[in-house]
Amino acid sequence: MKRAILIAVLAAFLGMGCSTQPVKTVWLDEMDLSTMETGWGSNHVKKSVDRNPLTINGTVYERGVGTHAISKYMVDLGGKGRRFMATVGVDDEVKGKASLEFFVLGDKKILWQSGIMTDTTAALPVDIDIRGVKKLALLVTDGGDNINFDHANWADARFEIRGDTILALPQAVAGEPYILTPPVGDAPRINGPSVTGATPGRPFMYKIPVTGKRPMTIIAANLPAGLSMDPATGVITGKVKQEGEYLVDVRAKNEAGEAARTLKIIIGKHKLALTPPMGWNSWNNWACAVDQEKVKASADAMVSHGLIEHGWCYINIDDCWQSSERTKAGELLPNEKFPDIKGLADHVHSLGLKIGIYSSPGPTTCAGYPGSYKFELRDAQTWANWGMDYIKYDWCGYSRVVEDNTLEAYQKPYRVMREALDRVDRDIVYSLCQYGMKDVSAWGAEVGGDLWRTTGDIGDSWNSLSSIGFAQDKNSPYAGPSAWNDPDMLVLGYVGWGASLSPTRLTPDEQYSHISLWSLLAAPLLLGCDMERLDDFTLNLITNDEVIAVNQDALGKQAVPLVREDGMEVWVKELEDGSKAAGVFYTGSSNTDPVEMFNWDEGKTSRKITVDLAALGFAGKCTVRDLWRQQELGAFTGTFDTEVPFHGVTLVKITATE
Ligand code: GLA
Repeated sequence: MKRAILIAVLAAFLGMGCSTQPVKTVWLDEMDLSTMETGWGSNHVKKSVDRNPLTINGTVYERGVGTHAISKYMVDLGGKGRRFMATVGVDDEVKGKASLEFFVLGDKKILWQSGIMTDTTAALPVDIDIRGVKKLALLVTDGGDNINFDHANWADARFEIRGDTILALPQAVAGEPYILTPPVGDAPRINGPSVTGATPGRPFMYKIPVTGKRPMTIIAANLPAGLSMDPATGVITGKVKQEGEYLVDVRAKNEAGEAARTLKIIIGKHKLALTPPMGWNSWNNWACAVDQEKVKASADAMVSHGLIEHGWCYINIDDCWQSSERTKAGELLPNEKFPDIKGLADHVHSLGLKIGIYSSPGPTTCAGYPGSYKFELRDAQTWANWGMDYIKYDWCGYSRVVEDNTLEAYQKPYRVMREALDRVDRDIVYSLCQYGMKDVSAWGAEVGGDLWRTTGDIGDSWNSLSSIGFAQDKNSPYAGPSAWNDPDMLVLGYVGWGASLSPTRLTPDEQYSHISLWSLLAAPLLLGCDMERLDDFTLNLITNDEVIAVNQDALGKQAVPLVREDGMEVWVKELEDGSKAAGVFYTGSSNTDPVEMFNWDEGKTSRKITVDLAALGFAGKCTVRDLWRQQELGAFTGTFDTEVPFHGVTLVKITATE
């Protein structure tokens, strides 16, 4: 009996963390931070997110970690922790713009929270008792608004533990990549949207994407006057003078079979981007390490990987192509990394692809190159002369010259460039980029945009992707043909924002969710990866024509979340043929409840989700098709069950049959 009491006392003593090991200080900035998630940019040791010294209200801190909301980090203390100490606050590099909140959580409880902090809030000390805590989590939320400018410092952050090290815990374990999409067949299949458009009298180019064995003959009957098609490539070129809607009969034939489809060509004013643009952009991969060779190689790879036959068509150069000075006559030239930009554009066009470029309405771009401020018409003319088909117009330096804080002042530079684009003799898709300020989705179309960014920059983490993607419902009502909400570019494949790239940090399941959600959102699909390093898994993700068809559907509706509960969401998109696409996501966490934002339990690998078909608008019998597997799941009434991987998705098309 005595012995049992002694053991119990000893166990309690050890359980309280009172082991005999000496107390050691482990600094956050010397721990494994590879699993620390950040909502934007990268975490930095002893530096802010923008790589400045960690500074809160004028005080510089030697140690700590700079991160960005939403930031999550979980560690395994196993009960050996004693104290956690830090000084937290918004970094001074973002004066007047941030609002965020720090949390320390232990075993599904909030142990400490800062309250909303801005750049004027004094640095807050954290000193908490963490004895007995098994799993501890550090969290920075966006304070309930958005993550823009939320640069957060865990300054002087350190743990006192009785033990040697603290293990970091990943939030999702990356399984092996798995391919769901069946291989493309030999018989022809006509892909791409069922509609495309152009302005009367301006140069027209559209490549009909067709998969299947070559040689293949493509025929387009009833083309409007002024257009002709190359039967070997399916590229339609020319000019149509007459406004109108033209129904073209497209046929494709090879030794394995034949396919037919109607393509609607709409000739009218502002009829570009009738479906969301699909292509590649240099930013998420090369950022300022972009050069002409890399852009050309990306265009060539778009063709050699066959992506062009699935509808991928834009090759967009982002920031850092410009020379630092304009000519005396005010002309904007490319820098030495682009010795022949017109030749590059010609090459891209010769492949049947289109090409895009980047500028800012401000005096400078985000990377500090000249913007188009006061040179709008001149620049639009330059891009048209080079043969550009797309312009991304990025606010950045305009914040230095914006007249005031009114809506009109924020709209003005975008109206000015619209006018300039209307005056040049070329169709140029107009992509506004100002991170969602002043609810741009409500007026992006009014100022003449074809698409507009609704958020800050995306990163290759589930945290970033899910906090952006699942917050797009408020923008849904504004989406439609030539009016797309842009939740930023894709983060699949090799990404890196610089000269050296690494595979995306998204797990395979998260990547399926990424493409599924962006397709449901009718978001522009712009790859941001090294096009020469596309593995089979990544190719499978971006060449499933049934998934792409959801994105490119001519009705142009953006999905809305019809079910949102306890770690799962169902987003539903209405399609032109009367059916609906639905994404059943097992998010496993909440975007608002601090405790539920973490995966506390090991072994969260998948979950059976019962989908209530009535909640999705299906009262009677319907058929359900698995779009990733391209397989019918059968006929259902009332509900259907699906096993969804953690952070993954089941993407289906549901058609009412009665
Ligand atoms: C901003 C944009 C990015 C990219 C960079 C270029 O951050 O949001 O998409 O264009 O500028 O500097």
